[in-house]
Amino acid sequence: MNYLALAEEIAREAGEMLLAKRPARPDVVATKSSPTDVVTALDEEAERLIRSRIPEGHAVLGEEGGGTGSGAVRWIVDPIDGTVNFLYGLPEWAVSIAVEVDGRIVAGVVNVVPRGEVFTATLGGGAWLAGEGAPRERLRCNTGVPLERALVATGFGYAAGRRAVQAEVVAHVLPRVRDIRRGGSCAVDLCSVASGRVDAYYERGTNPWDYGAGGLIAAEAGARFGGLHGRAAGPSMVLCAAPGLFEELHNLLAPLDPERDA
Ligand code: IPD
Ligand code: CA
Ligand code: CA
Repeated sequence: MNYLALAEEIAREAGEMLLAKRPARPDVVATKSSPTDVVTALDEEAERLIRSRIPEGHAVLGEEGGGTGSGAVRWIVDPIDGTVNFLYGLPEWAVSIAVEVDGRIVAGVVNVVPRGEVFTATLGGGAWLAGEGAPRERLRCNTGVPLERALVATGFGYAAGRRAVQAEVVAHVLPRVRDIRRGGSCAVDLCSVASGRVDAYYERGTNPWDYGAGGLIAAEAGARFGGLHGRAAGPSMVLCAAPGLFEELHNLLAPLDPERDA
């Protein structure tokens, strides 16, 4: 089975549905009954659509529906990564789908719907960007950028206590890098590392549905994707940059103990 082709088809279909149904921003923001409800309903509808297109017998881990099924093949799905951007009409949100076989991610798609950009990768097959009406382009991350000239993307969780630690950490990082970006979608941030739109990314508290597809895309574009102290990338920390910059950023972050609780 061509997992990438199917994942891309499904991510495009979900993206079209979301774009068609996304309420105009003033509508959403003006509704007294929580605007987030509208978004939650679309999140759930998109995940249902995606799940309905996944072959029977495959396991699924989705942000909205949790883990279902078992077996060697598991689809990892975030129906909307960057929900706050989606709510406000900012263009940085995406449908993210990864396919894992025997515990290894073999294919990933991040459909950045408002921009008409679809990022894809297969394990060993490179990372690619298909822009609307543009030829498919192979991606390479930036290399040879020292920490003090690095544009570093990061993100913040939703819980106040965790944010307080993240704010302390970013206050230490900001004076030592070119600048910080907070795009609002982990999946898009990782694709930005892959395409050289930022030099590095780190974040604590993301989940496999946030970084599964984007992590493969960044790695296939030549970036190192991992955690602190030689660990794999995981909810406690995701770090991503070209080798060299990865180590510099790691050595800046590690002594700050960024995985601690407030
Ligand atoms: C969030 C985004 C954001 C990151 C958060 C995630 P959501 O996902 O990826 O960039 O900073 O940690 O939870 O809630 O928009 O699917
Ligand atoms: Ca997410
Ligand atoms: Ca989400």
